[in-house]
Amino acid sequence: MSKIQQTLSIIKPDAVERNLEDNIKKIFTENNLGIKESKKIQITKDEAAEFYKVHQSKPFYNDLCDYLSSGPIVVMILEGENAVVANRKLMGATNPKDAEENTIRKLYGISIDKNSVHGSDSIENAKKEIDFFFKN
Ligand code: CMP
Repeated sequence: MSKIQQTLSIIKPDAVERNLEDNIKKIFTENNLGIKESKKIQITKDEAAEFYKVHQSKPFYNDLCDYLSSGPIVVMILEGENAVVANRKLMGATNPKDAEENTIRKLYGISIDKNSVHGSDSIENAKKEIDFFFKN
């Protein structure tokens, strides 16, 4: 059964800074994830705190919010079959050291913080995260 879904992807500041936007987008499109929307923006720390509020009790929360707001990011709506899981497979493990070969984080991630991309972890969160960046 075909399950066409949408998910949110973010190219984080470390990857935008190294001009990896096109390389990362190519990985999505070559693996049947279409890019429905894409915009390059810079968010405030307050916006980052709101976006990552599921992590607010974690010790890394403050640094995470500083980091996501530290430079331009590219936010995208990806669409395709099982897009949430498909995107997470292409990203690889959160820590680039643990990521499988040829995943985005293995190819480009620098550290667990500078791990180049974010992707929604469930259909429910994908809807919330898409609304966060794309609802007018
Ligand atoms: P991301 O998928 O954007 O979701 C939350 C981010 O927190 C995660 O990627 C990592 O970049 C960052 N992070 C920093 N430290 C940790 C940690 N110990 N465990 C999980 N995520 C972490």
